[in-house]
Amino acid sequence: MDRRDALKTMGASLAAVAMAGIAPLTHAAILKDRSKGKKRLVFYFTATGNSLFVAKQLSDNPLSIPQELKKKDLSYKADEIGFVFPDYAASAPLIVREFVKKAKFEAPYIFSVITFGNACVNVAEWWNKFAGENGVKNNYVNTILMVDNYLPVFDMNQQMTIDKHVDENLAKILDDLGSHKQFILPSDMGWFNEEGLKRLQDAHFNMTADKLLQVKEDRCIECLTCANVCPHKNFSLTDRGLKIGGMCEYCLACVHNCPQKALTLRSAREGRPGERNPEARYRNPNISLNEIIRSNRQ
Ligand SMILES: Cc1cc2nc3c(=O)[nH]c(=O)nc-3n(C[C@H](O)[C@H](O)[C@H](O)COP(=O)(O)O)c2cc1C
Repeated sequence: MDRRDALKTMGASLAAVAMAGIAPLTHAAILKDRSKGKKRLVFYFTATGNSLFVAKQLSDNPLSIPQELKKKDLSYKADEIGFVFPDYAASAPLIVREFVKKAKFEAPYIFSVITFGNACVNVAEWWNKFAGENGVKNNYVNTILMVDNYLPVFDMNQQMTIDKHVDENLAKILDDLGSHKQFILPSDMGWFNEEGLKRLQDAHFNMTADKLLQVKEDRCIECLTCANVCPHKNFSLTDRGLKIGGMCEYCLACVHNCPQKALTLRSAREGRPGERNPEARYRNPNISLNEIIRSNRQ
């Protein structure tokens, strides 16, 4: 179907639903229908819902990478396979890398959409190379700008007021995927250099939860939401309260989703970056806490 036909179909669908008196489909929903008849598998990782929101526009049943990793058989075959995940320091979360290393994927069209909040630098080319080295040949890698959930630098209250044109950019990506576009987003290094990036990545990817986090004990109600949203099982309850430890993704799902704002990043004085605004937290407004729990719970 070409673009003109797609627009025609969209017009016809809108007229039909208007007559039927039901809510019109969104642009995304209509374009998603274009993959009907083809088997499309979309795998995602999310901490605060941005990547799940995108994954849900690409598939009716996106598959959580932390949940898939529990399965024995990690062989996937489809007409189209997609990956959606956040950019962490111009690279992919560790759990996404682990999945791509362990699993086997077979599809004539493979795409990746990486959500980011401020500067995506060379993440698309980095991912294309990393995935390629692990047997996954991407036909399409693009990024999409959304709220930046990186607490050391950004105030979530301020981030949420910025219009990042998500709907328009997502519609373009959906259009690209509908026509099986071949595209790898070129790098834009800006003021970054390879050495600086490497230092940044080392700082993020050699992290343990106890080094990164601290609990405000007067706020913690031991609800264990942190444990439920952590993809690495880093929280447990003991007689002495919440116990934190283990290899950390630095995804910040625990900090953002704590209903009491009882988890914070250790302060700069202790050698950690601290936070821009410890009272401001974020979860994508279209995604529920239960969805994050179902995505990540171990
Ligand atoms: C540890 C960490 C590192 C990040 N690094 C970058 C980055 O280098 N560039 C960028 O633009 N956004 C960066 N972000 C922001 C996230 O990529 C962005 O907010 C993403 O949409 C969050 O996705 P999620 O809601 O699915 O978890 C980083 C976030 C975290 C937690």
